[in-house]
Amino acid sequence: MWPKYIVFDGMDGSGKGTQMALLRRLGPSIVFTREPGGTPFAEEIRKLVRDNPLAGQSTALNNFLLFWAAREELMQNLVMPALRAGKHVFSDRGDSSTFAFQLCGEASEGEDLFDLFPRLRKLVFGGRERREPDLYVVFDLPAEVARQRVMQAGRGELNHFDFRDLEYYKRVSLGFHLFSRLHPVKFIDATRAPEVIHEDVMQVLKTELGTQKHVPAILPY
Ligand code: TYD
Repeated sequence: MWPKYIVFDGMDGSGKGTQMALLRRLGPSIVFTREPGGTPFAEEIRKLVRDNPLAGQSTALNNFLLFWAAREELMQNLVMPALRAGKHVFSDRGDSSTFAFQLCGEASEGEDLFDLFPRLRKLVFGGRERREPDLYVVFDLPAEVARQRVMQAGRGELNHFDFRDLEYYKRVSLGFHLFSRLHPVKFIDATRAPEVIHEDVMQVLKTELGTQKHVPAILPY
């Protein structure tokens, strides 16, 4: 069996958390992780970049580098060892988030993160045992719906990533779609009921996990 590395991603408010909780029923042959985080050191970076209010004032480039730092740690100490041990890895978010949020959502003029992205990607997913995600499952939601859901659900518990205007949500949404032109993405319509979405996810996974053939990852850059 060729163990798969699958990323689950989407706009804030897409119901990704509910879907990840449902997937955990699949059992111990799958290692679940999340980004940023997943290892003790990467969880420290998570606290810094997500929960520290000072991070809200930092540039897109700064966030970009911190998310890649956390990802490098996760790849070396969790993803690669799990894959080597023959386990599938399911990650709550991945570099698709960095592409959508930092490159497309946050970057201001002059911050050319599009140039840096493939270089960091090659460094972190490259090396002797090159592995990158086999599939990205993206829970897709119109920007308006995503923002409305976040604002309604937050009620005082929002982090600095959530306080954004509609234009930002639109850029992030476009970001996921741009990402899908370069990488294997399956979009799942996240406007529907959680159990219907879950059925779709299971269908996608059945196809993906049933594919035994390993096609060596060819980085598109
Ligand atoms: P979290 O509370 O885990 O959000 P969610 O439950 O929706 O996944 O917070 C993670 C936040 O970090 C989320 O707003 C998206 C953001 N993020 C980025 O901006 N870039 C990244 O590369 C990653 C992995 C996350």
